Amino acid sequence: MLYKLEVKLPQKIYPILIKKDIIKDICYEINKIYNSKRITIITDQNVGKLYVKALVDNLKSYGFDVYTIFIEPGENSKSIKVLTDVYNQLLDIGITRKALILAFGGGVVGDLAGFAAATFLRGIRYIQIPTSLLAQIDSSIGGKVAVNLPRGKNLIGNFYHPEAVFIDPSLLKTLPRRFLYDGMAEVIKYACIKDIDLFNKLMEVDIETDFDFIIHEIIYRCCNIKKEIVEYDEKESGERMLLNFGHTIGHAIERAFNYERFTHGEAVAIGMYCITKKSEDMGITKKGTADSIKELLVKFKLPYKLYQIDSDILIEAINLDKKSEDDYINLVLLREIGNSFMKKVKKEDIHLFLQNEM
Ligand SMILES: NC(=O)c1ccc[n+]([C@@H]2O[C@H](COP(=O)([O-])OP(=O)(O)OC[C@H]3O[C@@H](n4cnc5c(N)ncnc54)[C@H](O)[C@@H]3O)[C@@H](O)[C@H]2O)c1
Repeated sequence: MLYKLEVKLPQKIYPILIKKDIIKDICYEINKIYNSKRITIITDQNVGKLYVKALVDNLKSYGFDVYTIFIEPGENSKSIKVLTDVYNQLLDIGITRKALILAFGGGVVGDLAGFAAATFLRGIRYIQIPTSLLAQIDSSIGGKVAVNLPRGKNLIGNFYHPEAVFIDPSLLKTLPRRFLYDGMAEVIKYACIKDIDLFNKLMEVDIETDFDFIIHEIIYRCCNIKKEIVEYDEKESGERMLLNFGHTIGHAIERAFNYERFTHGEAVAIGMYCITKKSEDMGITKKGTADSIKELLVKFKLPYKLYQIDSDILIEAINLDKKSEDDYINLVLLREIGNSFMKKVKKEDIHLFLQNEM
């Protein structure tokens, strides 16, 4: 089954194709949108080891000249140093503006390769072929590309959309379990902010037996929500901020623990439960919502609580958030599952939204 979506922006329209084993027909899809010969695949060593040979052989059999750039797996590769290495390799290959880059990997590869494409020779075309769940439902769509600086994540970046996004759910078979559950936190986020039907489906599904079967639909629904939000608010001045549900506390937790103890998804999971529990206690959110979120998080092996952290440490970390405005922070809250809104909260009042013990 093929799911097809289109991201429609004033300056660009591009397709998102979701299909099991699409990786095997990818040359056919690339041929439809690219009529030059030179293709550079940027990938990391984990994904590279598993899938690059078949992809290269396939592309060559279609007459493309194919080059490959490998980066080390992991967040540390989203650095200026690795970016410079990538630029140098693109120069060695002799890439011109007519060339095409394939960003083939998880969110790290997508963000780095996308930023390289956005900036090299003032911009060359690229296609996202995301391979982690997080990348397939989130980071490959919407054109945000970035690298980190030692003083913070994603501090250098751009909005630069790909020519297409090709999503193959069967690639997730080799994704390590922890990263699969990490991505599930973002799936649960989409369900919480916009899709009660998806939330109920996730509650019903047996993750051991039905997961392969349902993952296709999960990816489609999440991509659809993301693309609609991006179409409405490309540069994140309003609606797109809803995607930050659970992220204000989540980012603060990641920062407070030096990005070591929790994955991004785990931190967001705790953030979603804690903010909802509090807003429920304040009478903003329908009773029982936090418990439903907790049930789903536990089902997908995600944490929902932090034990013994001083809320002052989190408040300090929240105040460092680059998304905060001068005196205010935009919190995303739920009225109930599937119904989210933004609340501007004075920084001095942020403690009201944190538990004494989280
Ligand atoms: N641009 C955006 O809008 C956006 C949104 C959310 C997150 N992000 C970024 O995404 C990054 C995180 O992405 P991620 O969670 O995909 O991390 P990642 O890219 O590091 O991938 C996670 C791990 O899984 C491995 N992997 C990926 N696909 C695999 C597969 N099919 N089989 C086996 N191993 C595989 C990778 O090698 C890596 O070790 C962060 O840098 C974050 O800032 C960007």
